[in-house]
Amino acid sequence: MRVITSITEVQVLIEKLRREGKIISLVPTMGYLHQGHVSLMKEGKRRGDVLVISIFVNPTQFGTGEDYDVYPRDLERDKKLAERAGVDIIFSPNALEIYPRAYQTYVQVEEVTKNLCGLSRPTHFRGVTTVVAKLFNIVKPHIAIFGEKDFQQLVTIRQMVRDLNYDIEIVGMPTHREEDGLAMSSRNAYLNPPERKAARSLYRSLLRASELFTSGEQQVEKIIGEVKKIIASEGIITVDYIKICDTENLQDLIVVDREAVLALAVKVGKARLIDNLVLKPLH
Ligand code: PAF
Repeated sequence: MRVITSITEVQVLIEKLRREGKIISLVPTMGYLHQGHVSLMKEGKRRGDVLVISIFVNPTQFGTGEDYDVYPRDLERDKKLAERAGVDIIFSPNALEIYPRAYQTYVQVEEVTKNLCGLSRPTHFRGVTTVVAKLFNIVKPHIAIFGEKDFQQLVTIRQMVRDLNYDIEIVGMPTHREEDGLAMSSRNAYLNPPERKAARSLYRSLLRASELFTSGEQQVEKIIGEVKKIIASEGIITVDYIKICDTENLQDLIVVDREAVLALAVKVGKARLIDNLVLKPLH
């Protein structure tokens, strides 16, 4: 496994590998890797000949007052985990390598970034699409793998890939969960024991929503009401949003009469947590 910090060095190596006919897969990450990342890496390994992961805590996707400075980082631990998962190249540039002085170009996907997390984090997706576009240009992967936990991010990246004609297959992978259902996230490291316990209610509430939907409830207000009740019963969780949206355009629905995503974002202590569940009508 090679660990590369320079853009030029990774570009030269990838150029050589592509000329040899190798299929390159990329898993973009912000590090502090967990089993959720491992499942993305395994998929990357399965689909490609050369597995690249990027480890870069991207400053442009954090808003003012968010957790950029304290975001968990442990490159040595990440290297061990990546090696075990069969990663061939880690690309871990520093912030100045990606955003040199006088940097001024951003990629903005319009409509699908406005709702959900876009409401409380208005510059977040611009940062995500900018860095992902740059990673695509640097690593030139044939395939890129993302988690479905960040549902809006996945929809946004698919939109960017279509709109900007990237010749890259985007693969979404199911959310990896702890035994008690909590979606894996690097930010779970912020939770103290009572917060960690309360956070279990998120998945519990999604399952209850799915149960209601499967038994015929289509009214968004009713489903969301149940979800809110379960989360509120913990007492220490602040809701940012709980919404049900069309999976394609991420617009709010009133009735679940098509494929929809129930998406939520909450604050538990210092951690902002997101989770979601796709609701599929039978016909
Ligand atoms: O999902 C993440 O970890 C980040 O948003 C990504 C895609 C690596 C871009 O910084």
